[in-house]
Amino acid sequence: MKKLVIGCDHAALDMKNSVREHLIARGFDVTDVGTYTSDSCNYPVFAHRVCEKVQSGEAEMGILICGTGIGMSLVANKHKGIRAACCSDTFSARLTRQHNDANVLCFGARVVGIGLALDLVDNFVDAEFEGGKHAVRVDMITAVENGTFHE
Ligand code: RB5
Repeated sequence: MKKLVIGCDHAALDMKNSVREHLIARGFDVTDVGTYTSDSCNYPVFAHRVCEKVQSGEAEMGILICGTGIGMSLVANKHKGIRAACCSDTFSARLTRQHNDANVLCFGARVVGIGLALDLVDNFVDAEFEGGKHAVRVDMITAVENGTFHE
């Protein structure tokens, strides 16, 4: 059973709860790291919680939802080993797994409706990294992150 971790801020509470229930109904093991109320909160807290679980291997992939998805993706991509993609179309959500080996999907509850949100998540979690020439490029991303990149 694939292990997933999900987090959000106050702007995305209802959407996060719906996405979590959708994934559980599909048979995934989902850890919800909050937020759990509609009180105003700071999205970096929840991005960090999700990324820690992906970095440690406790979860294979993470999902982060805020108002736009952008704040979450900015924070997530500051974490070593995290490749977060902010998507609002299903093609990108699938291709970022297949080509970029993205391990965190971000999107905005003020950008997409719940129907599209569920499709984004399904496209992301069901797609597999294709490896090959894409692995060479992902290795380059890692080299940039490690300060060892050479053209
Ligand atoms: C919260 O108002 C909003 O700034 C946040 O959810 C997110 O959109 C930030 O990128």
